[in-house]
Amino acid sequence: MDLTVSQLGDDDWTVLRELRLACLAESPGAFWATLETEAAYSQGQWTDFLRAAVWFIAASDSEYIGIAGAMARPDTADEPEIIGMWVAPYARRHKVGQRLLDACAEWGRARQVRSMTLWIVEGNLAAQGLYADCGFQLTGERAPLPRDEASYEVRMRLAL
Ligand SMILES: CC(C)(COP(=O)(O)OP(=O)(O)OC[C@H]1O[C@@H](n2cnc3c(N)ncnc32)[C@H](O)[C@@H]1OP(=O)(O)O)[C@@H](O)C(=O)NCCC(=O)NCCS
Repeated sequence: MDLTVSQLGDDDWTVLRELRLACLAESPGAFWATLETEAAYSQGQWTDFLRAAVWFIAASDSEYIGIAGAMARPDTADEPEIIGMWVAPYARRHKVGQRLLDACAEWGRARQVRSMTLWIVEGNLAAQGLYADCGFQLTGERAPLPRDEASYEVRMRLAL
């Protein structure tokens, strides 16, 4: 597969919108957010969301096929979080997710952080398989999912 991974620029909010709405429609159970909420975002909300993280996108033959973000809020500056990982169904099992994680880890190393974390919905075995394959380990932390308190999410950490 001809694959390129690049970073979204500060004005690429329409690309973020396209990919986020695709991923929330396709995998509604995998994320904190809902399609209903983000479909109603204004341009200003998309721009804020874009700039709140560093977003990496994967493309093949000029089509966007995947996305992942790396977010360092003031309280997580030492240990940024990876968010919003998604690969289009037809492109799965071609190492697209792995390439997106590599880009996030490279970004973390350039910031000289020692580790990165993420949360996944418990039972998401594809995501857990990907993260384990890339060196993430379960931290033992488990918390109810804010949008559905009957479900839980678990945390994983990658040492850089
Ligand atoms: C999870 C997801 C991002 C994986 O992306 P991907 O591009 O298919 O993953 P890769 O091809 O890079 O996989 C690399 C390795 O991860 C593991 N892996 C990936 N998908 C897996 C699956 N369905 N089951 C078990 N292991 C899996 C395997 O070890 C795989 O290597 P292999 O294909 O040589 O066996 C993709 O399935 C997806 O977008 N799912 C829906 C959204 C989602 O769950 N996002 C995560 C939110 S936390």
